Amino acid sequence: MASAIRSTWRFSTSDEILFGCGAAERIGVEARYRNLSRALIVADPNMAKAGLVDVVRRSLDESQVESHVFDGSAPEPGAATVNAAAEAARVAQPDFIIGLGGGSNMDVAKVAAAIYTHGGSAADYFGENHVPGPTIPVFAVPTTAGTGSEVTAVAVIEDETRHLKLAIASPHLRPRLAIVDPLLTLTCPAKVTAESGMDALVHAVEACTVIGHDALDVPLDARPQFSGRQPITDALAEQAIRLVGRHLRAAVYQPKNIAAREGMHLAALLAGMAFSSAGLGAAHALQYPVGAVTHTPHGLGTGLLLPYVVAYLLPAAPEAFARIASWLGEDVDGMSAADAAHLCVEAIQRLKQDVGLPMRLRDIGVREEHLRPMAEQAITYTRLIRMSPRPIDIAALEGILRSAW
Ligand SMILES: NC(=O)c1ccc[n+]([C@@H]2O[C@H](COP(=O)([O-])OP(=O)(O)OC[C@H]3O[C@@H](n4cnc5c(N)ncnc54)[C@H](O)[C@@H]3O)[C@@H](O)[C@H]2O)c1
Ligand SMILES: [Fe+2]
Repeated sequence: MASAIRSTWRFSTSDEILFGCGAAERIGVEARYRNLSRALIVADPNMAKAGLVDVVRRSLDESQVESHVFDGSAPEPGAATVNAAAEAARVAQPDFIIGLGGGSNMDVAKVAAAIYTHGGSAADYFGENHVPGPTIPVFAVPTTAGTGSEVTAVAVIEDETRHLKLAIASPHLRPRLAIVDPLLTLTCPAKVTAESGMDALVHAVEACTVIGHDALDVPLDARPQFSGRQPITDALAEQAIRLVGRHLRAAVYQPKNIAAREGMHLAALLAGMAFSSAGLGAAHALQYPVGAVTHTPHGLGTGLLLPYVVAYLLPAAPEAFARIASWLGEDVDGMSAADAAHLCVEAIQRLKQDVGLPMRLRDIGVREEHLRPMAEQAITYTRLIRMSPRPIDIAALEGILRSAW
């Protein structure tokens, strides 16, 4: 029986995805189609400044959908922000919630919907599978090309009492509808474009190099957040990596380049679909303590760390990293897998440098005495560590941090 379970895999994503330039102008029609008539929009002040709240509200107005705005969200949100959004929902009494923004606002919207539907506060939901059932519908409308939160079953929220970013993971957090409109990213600042775009690359690279679904020692029925690589996630991750290689530099340096914005928005979406079923690994486990010490954005940390993590993983999967090098545009013809895999590290370092990410941990305020405690913290993220294709312990994590330092 065990082998039958091991050969079965599951793929999940948001119920529907609407992709394309101008897609956000359809949000009112999409709400009406689902018999929804009262929205709470979760946003932050930059969304109004960039004119994005207006795009959404105009469409809702035209379809006679009443809308209320909570603009108290913020980057790398904490539990207090989520609880404030849930309180805004209690006042506005919406029948659906719109998360408008980068991963931060979408994550706040997803957890606020859980609290509004089921009660309690953010602290009650930290961990895996603590959302007891479906929530009121969430429409996720990303304005960065990065996190893929519009299709994932997780929100990343800071537990302020412990100064730690923690996951709230549940299949019930997956948005009902993802509206992925590249035009909404035209105002995204270059720094955010670079950092969130590198995060999309990390999602895709980790998704296609974690252990396979047949190697994960957790039963399917336990609905682990991550269940290992399988054919659909491999296909999605490959396309995401190719798109990042082709479009990230142009998206950073030519902010109004619509083809580049479109390529990156698709890349982030595909990478989110891939990692949300397959899994993530050490670059994410290490970013959480790095982010907590340095107060730097998520994508800056995962992007900075990725080449050093890849260098550690190379011996376990040289063919996989050789393929990634070629998807990133490296010429690997006639090379051995080991040599081509080293090009993968170089290609990621070059991309990092080209888009202006810091190269080393010391550049962002990490001190040598931080490295060991960071490794001790990272090893506790079991859901990530167990997905590594090469066994990884505290010493290995400290070694990766030291080479990144
Ligand atoms: N839920 C998931 O699956 C998932 C996956 C990866 C990361 N995350 C989380 O997502 C967060 C990071 O999200 P992010 O990288 O998208 O950045 P973000 O949401 O934190 O946004 C960064 C800044 O950019 C501004 N901004 C975003 N889009 C803009 C636009 N179009 N025009 C003008 N300003 C704009 C925002 O207002 C904000 O100030 C972190 O908390 C991270 O842990 C979640
Ligand atoms: Fe990430």
